[in-house]
Amino acid sequence: MTRMITFINGDGIGQEVIPAARQVVESLGLPLEFREAEAGFGTFEKTGNALPPETLALCQQSDAVLFGATSSPMTKTPGYQSPILALRRHFDLFANLRPAVSENIDLLIVRENTEGLYSRRERVEDDGQTAIAERVITARASERIVRVACQQAMQHRRRLTIVHKANVLSETCGLFRRVAFEVVKEFPDLTVNELLVDTAAMKLVQSPQNFDVIVTTNLFGDILSDLAAGLTGGLGIAPSANVGVGRPAVFEPVHGSAPDIAGKGIADPRAAILSSAMMLDFLGHAEIAEQVRRITYQTAHQGSTQATTQAIIHQLLEVAVHAK
Ligand code: IPM
Ligand code: MN
Repeated sequence: MTRMITFINGDGIGQEVIPAARQVVESLGLPLEFREAEAGFGTFEKTGNALPPETLALCQQSDAVLFGATSSPMTKTPGYQSPILALRRHFDLFANLRPAVSENIDLLIVRENTEGLYSRRERVEDDGQTAIAERVITARASERIVRVACQQAMQHRRRLTIVHKANVLSETCGLFRRVAFEVVKEFPDLTVNELLVDTAAMKLVQSPQNFDVIVTTNLFGDILSDLAAGLTGGLGIAPSANVGVGRPAVFEPVHGSAPDIAGKGIADPRAAILSSAMMLDFLGHAEIAEQVRRITYQTAHQGSTQATTQAIIHQLLEVAVHAK
């Protein structure tokens, strides 16, 4: 059956790295159908909607979405909603998988993707002098994210670290922690430990090679995944997958729209290409995904988006020729 992929470039370097990743995917000659849709701040300025209904409808029909990056204003902009947050919420993509890989590091952050401090329950009181954010943690969301993390850890080196801040956030992180230790009982083959998030940050910097799979709440996962990317060569090679129970799943580089380098043709396409490898895994093309991953990690960024992309495609074609 032909699977359908929707590409959403978004803003800034998303306009460069997603077409690059598309070139790589198209070069593989797989039975895939490709569509393109719009989202982002540019789309918002043009249409008043950062994630137009046509885009959502195309995503709904797709098996997978490859999403670039969008620019979000730092201040509240009436009517603007981050499209990636909207996609995660709309399709209940509760698990955010963020691998960080380099020569001696091979870790995976499993980030809860639907609640926590991303619940958007913020308000101001006291004539604007007090701002309050509610952090929502549910047993249901904690349970399903920890289960995914355990399953991932079983495929990795069978070690799971539960990261929280239950010494301070005794109700919210307390619930997450309690549920996590219940769920891991179903996976007796795992070695499980827990770390407070601040300690985890320090240990990640000091001895990243000791980590295998990390599971944590939404904002902690957001922060730690950038930290892990920084340890393994930067955001240029940090991919991610947003998955729920069915389809579509949404794949995106961890990096943002990088307006400072946008339009120059110098953005590193490897994070987008590695995200498309995660997408190929999801679509059942594990062997080809592994080749894309191996070649992409081996290829240095050449300083030009197209040069790096062509170098990767060239090596993929050589592997394909040798396989015949
Ligand atoms: C990420 C990004 C997003 C997030 C932003 C763009 C809303 O930083 O995917 O890590 O905070 O989740
Ligand atoms: Mn982030």
